[in-house]
Amino acid sequence: MITCSALAFSVGGRSILSDLELTIPDGECIVVMGPSGAGKTTLLRLLAGLAVPSAGTIRVNGDVASTAGSVQIAPSRRDIGFVFQSGALWPHMTVAQNLLYGLADLPRAEAQQRMRDALDVCRVPELAMRFPQQLSGGEQRRVALARALAPHPRHLLMDEPLTSLDADLRSELLQLVCRTVQAHDTALVYVTHDEAEARTLGGRQMRLEHGHLLPNGRA
Ligand SMILES: Nc1ncnc2c1ncn2[C@@H]1O[C@H](COP(=O)(O)OP(=O)(O)OP(=O)(O)O)[C@@H](O)[C@H]1O
Ligand SMILES: [Mg+2]
Repeated sequence: MITCSALAFSVGGRSILSDLELTIPDGECIVVMGPSGAGKTTLLRLLAGLAVPSAGTIRVNGDVASTAGSVQIAPSRRDIGFVFQSGALWPHMTVAQNLLYGLADLPRAEAQQRMRDALDVCRVPELAMRFPQQLSGGEQRRVALARALAPHPRHLLMDEPLTSLDADLRSELLQLVCRTVQAHDTALVYVTHDEAEARTLGGRQMRLEHGHLLPNGRA
């Protein structure tokens, strides 16, 4: 479970998020929508520990993870998987190395198995030895999903993971996300601009606007 209390983020004297309250119970799906520049990516970065709050507290499984001006629990210790808006694979690592990087705490054989299983689930087992620049945009998205899913994180943050993919691939990967989070009882925070994606995911729909997170009345 992740909780945010009175969470705020400002940059250069400009308030991006203010007084934000959010509880993400284990195994639940929360869809975050809202206009471009509203702070959706910023919110995910705060939850992951990649950005530092200006005020308020983030707790992960009851432990204080971030407070104003400091990060107490490092991103790698939060049991959080992140699919970035850009995909953001490490360009100097093969697909296999990209996945194994997040599995370094496991014994080698188990890490290898998890890596292969995740690539199988995302239907790209043949890409393990390629580098990201040798993949199509859609293949990169599959690998980014596989990388986030492989460690079986308790929480998964996805930032528009399917934007700019064709309709068939979007639908296939969305089903894959739904199946995987249900199978592992993973909490999911999913950012999208797409109402249809939000409906397919189900869960609680929120809208981020003017720095505040509110129930999405338009859904
Ligand atoms: N480190 C930073 N320095 C300066 N401005 C920032 C920084 N991080 C975010 N911002 C600003 O904060 C605002 C929110 O950005 P964010 O990326 O969270 O928006 P978003 O809701 O994800 O938008 P989009 O839907 O376009 O992805 C933007 O105006 C952005 O320029
Ligand atoms: Mg964004």
